[in-house]
Amino acid sequence: MAIRIGDTAPDFTAETTEGPIRFHDWIGDHWAILFSHPKDFTPVCTTELGYMASLKPEFEKRNVRVIGLSVDPADSHKKWAADIEETQGHALNFPLIADADRKVADLYDMIHPNASDTFTVRSVFVIGPDKKVKLTLTYPASCGRNFDEILRVIDSLQLTSNYSVATPVNWKHGEDVIIVPAVSDEDAKQKFPKGWKTLKPYLRVTPQPNK
Ligand code: BEZ
Repeated sequence: MAIRIGDTAPDFTAETTEGPIRFHDWIGDHWAILFSHPKDFTPVCTTELGYMASLKPEFEKRNVRVIGLSVDPADSHKKWAADIEETQGHALNFPLIADADRKVADLYDMIHPNASDTFTVRSVFVIGPDKKVKLTLTYPASCGRNFDEILRVIDSLQLTSNYSVATPVNWKHGEDVIIVPAVSDEDAKQKFPKGWKTLKPYLRVTPQPNK
């Protein structure tokens, strides 16, 4: 069955390029990104993993741990890592799950047989420290993902988990946010001391509260 936003992320044990893990223990009190790539030694995946490695300082700032997965064995992942560093200029700095028996891929529904019955699609799961799924994305093998967008979503998730706000179209960290309709104007006076603009009774815009 598909994994949906709000579900508890299924726990598992797995072999990775950094040794064995139990997923929930590995997440600990961090946020996590679990993402699959179709296959080692393939061009789009090589660019994706190099870029993900380059974002490490951004993930650290946000208390996010990253873990990749494909249905290749660990020795293949390790050999491929040299190509990623050589061609992308960034060495892998996060673990890759070696899911040769497809245990995790099946658990997370990462193999879509009408696309390929052999390889995983490009899935992304963002998981909170409470182990709940906060975001799911699925891309086809032919299209590399935009990992800057994943960072943007994490900024939004971390903000909205602490404040009664939502983020508007194309929002970026530092820009104005929306006061959720469940908050009355009376309560908003306390929660949003910087004030707000009312464009419609249901559309109230306020500066990002933690800036
Ligand atoms: C790639 O990463 O380039 C790729 C992998 C599987 C199918 C198509 C492209």
